[in-house]
Amino acid sequence: MERMSACLCLVFLFLTVVAEAKYPPGDTLLPQNLDHFSFQPESYRIFHQKYLISSHFWRKGGPIFVYTGNEGDIEWFASNTGFMLDIAPKFQALLVFIEHRFYGESKPHNLAKTMGYLNSQQALADYAILIRSLKQNLSSEASPVVVFGGSYGGMLAAWFRLKYPHITIGALASSAPILQFDKIVPSSSFYDVVSQDFKDASLNCFEVIKKSWRELEVFSTMKDGLQELSKKFRTCKDLHAVYLASRWLETAFTDTAMVNYPTPANFMAPLPAYPVEEMCKIIDRFPLEASNLDRAFAAASLYYNYSGSENCFDIENQTDPHGLNGWYWQACTEMVMPISCSNQSMFQPFEYDEKVDQEDCLKEYGVKPRPHWITTEFGGHRIEMVLKRFGSNIIFSNGMQDPWSREGVLKNISSSIIALVTKKAGAHHTDLRAATKEDPEWLKEQRRQEVAEIEKWISEYYSDLRQEEQAK
Ligand SMILES: *[C@@H]1O[C@H](CO)[C@@H](O)[C@H](O)[C@H]1NC(C)=O
Ligand SMILES: *[C@@H]1O[C@H](CO)[C@@H](O)[C@H](O)[C@H]1NC(C)=O
Ligand SMILES: *[C@@H]1O[C@H](CO)[C@@H](O)[C@H](O)[C@H]1NC(C)=O
Ligand SMILES: *[C@@H]1O[C@H](CO)[C@@H](O)[C@H](O)[C@H]1NC(C)=O
Ligand SMILES: *[C@@H]1O[C@H](CO)[C@@H](O)[C@H](O)[C@H]1NC(C)=O
Repeated sequence: MERMSACLCLVFLFLTVVAEAKYPPGDTLLPQNLDHFSFQPESYRIFHQKYLISSHFWRKGGPIFVYTGNEGDIEWFASNTGFMLDIAPKFQALLVFIEHRFYGESKPHNLAKTMGYLNSQQALADYAILIRSLKQNLSSEASPVVVFGGSYGGMLAAWFRLKYPHITIGALASSAPILQFDKIVPSSSFYDVVSQDFKDASLNCFEVIKKSWRELEVFSTMKDGLQELSKKFRTCKDLHAVYLASRWLETAFTDTAMVNYPTPANFMAPLPAYPVEEMCKIIDRFPLEASNLDRAFAAASLYYNYSGSENCFDIENQTDPHGLNGWYWQACTEMVMPISCSNQSMFQPFEYDEKVDQEDCLKEYGVKPRPHWITTEFGGHRIEMVLKRFGSNIIFSNGMQDPWSREGVLKNISSSIIALVTKKAGAHHTDLRAATKEDPEWLKEQRRQEVAEIEKWISEYYSDLRQEEQAK
């Protein structure tokens, strides 16, 4: 009974705070310069940056927890980062979620002419300016700021700590693939991990998917093959090419591996707990005479139609509800993350082709990718050696089932730059999700360690502050 009321109370708080985060009082748009790094008259053009704020748990003067937004609308990340909400009462922290420039509502006018100002350095400068402005407005200049982020947001959180140590005391960078640049890690890791996840769930499942691509290819040589395939895949409109169907299948498997959370969730799509296992159960349960392609299709349908509400699949024209479009620009300029697919994976193998990448980007945006820029600006090569003597207070958390995990920092670097790694468990920034009663022990432990680190940073900060004041 006691447990029951505690849970209800948590749910209630969660709802009120989310509601508050969704409709925050007061001004939540900050005018920002389009360009922080030069003083040309056009640099002063303004765009409005959105942020969400909740002071529900805040003790004035207490810590400020900031989510460094990534490539989508900020509400999406806020509603999938319940961890910050969960720990805010303990720290009596102010919660701030900042939207990344050029995403969601934080878009400048005349996008086509301003795309050059969409990059990670400008984004970090936006965060620095917003945090300073907010602290000033709240008369809370001495509040310690901790930054949080997952995926690209985690990369930004880690880099923010390294570039702006005077603005944040520490960073929790969850599933941050900061080493996916400039050949630091093998380019085949992503698909290798996805494949391993399916193999771990069921060897048969892995093999069925691996064999399905050839069966799919047959349709490109068949008379009326596209119509047949469209019928089989229940498409809303007839397909124009076979590769669209294979891309659709591939997305289902890679995205599901990314969000193979231990509890039901709705990050990329509504899915049950451990959806990779669920997909493999679908595949393994099929009657023996069924084709590999039919099984693969049925498994992919779990990803696209778990809610059961789809009448047909819009395979050619998948929707982009979170506005991820700007990422293609970033991938064509600074975020050059080479990806290939080995013949050991369950996908069709392909090589990374830098030339083709360059030509595509030139054609699409008129710009050439700069593959060495990120490692020049933020580092990455020999990261352990470099950060051992520079920087502090960063947690890199990774679950080894996450396709992006091999590109993360997986070793402890110093006593305050630490890697929390879960073997054979953990999907894409699982730790940032809201706690649930069903969470496995490893996840609770990971979060406990994260909270303990953050506590340490904050108490060191206050102790330094006291010493400084006494010295005056
Ligand atoms: C702080 O206040 C100023 C003046 O009212 C306002 O222009 C600015 O947007 C505020 N900063 C933030 C982060 O909201
Ligand atoms: C989606 O699931 C529902 C319920 O199982 C089913 O009736 C429907 O046919 C499915 N849609 C597609 C396109 O397969
Ligand atoms: C895709 O969807 C968009 C928006 O719903 C629509 O404007 C466009 O015509 C569609 N394209 C195709 C090929 O169906
Ligand atoms: C798989 O790839 C490796 C390395 O690229 C190559 O040596 C090998 O011949 C390939 N095997 C098959 C069956 O294609
Ligand atoms: C890093 O150190 C922490 C203790 O501070 C430990 O719990 C963790 O397992 C270590 N990480 C790795 C990858 O060894």
